[in-house]
Amino acid sequence: MKPVKHEKQAIKSLNEALAWEIRAALMYAHYAAYLKGRDRLDFEEHFSKEGEEGMHHAKIVRQIIADLGGKATTTPDPTPIPDVREADKMLAEALKTEEQAEKVYRELLPLFDHPTSWHHDLRHIMMDEEKAQIELKRLMK
Ligand SMILES: [Fe+2]
Repeated sequence: MKPVKHEKQAIKSLNEALAWEIRAALMYAHYAAYLKGRDRLDFEEHFSKEGEEGMHHAKIVRQIIADLGGKATTTPDPTPIPDVREADKMLAEALKTEEQAEKVYRELLPLFDHPTSWHHDLRHIMMDEEKAQIELKRLMK
């Protein structure tokens, strides 16, 4: 038996999470490219690291969807990525994205039996989203 309740709903929710991860990776890569001057020194590494984390999360979520026999999305969440050029606006947009990602994971976690490795992995991703918000708020002070 698979450690998941409401398998169809779980695949749908996982795909929502995957779409947000793909969007987050795109957003961070885009913003990293447009950082200028001191902002570049301050944030380029952080944005690149967060983008890589998004791809890492996407890999885990995609694999769970595949293991469940579902079709993983290859499309980012359609929420537009505002083309801002100032670092403080990029940080504010990043915070919104991390908050949304955490919300999606928080909603999908109850669909997975606990304690199981899928639940564990998804919970860890959710905590990464939470930690990203804490760090962004520190950077925005
Ligand atoms: Fe993520």
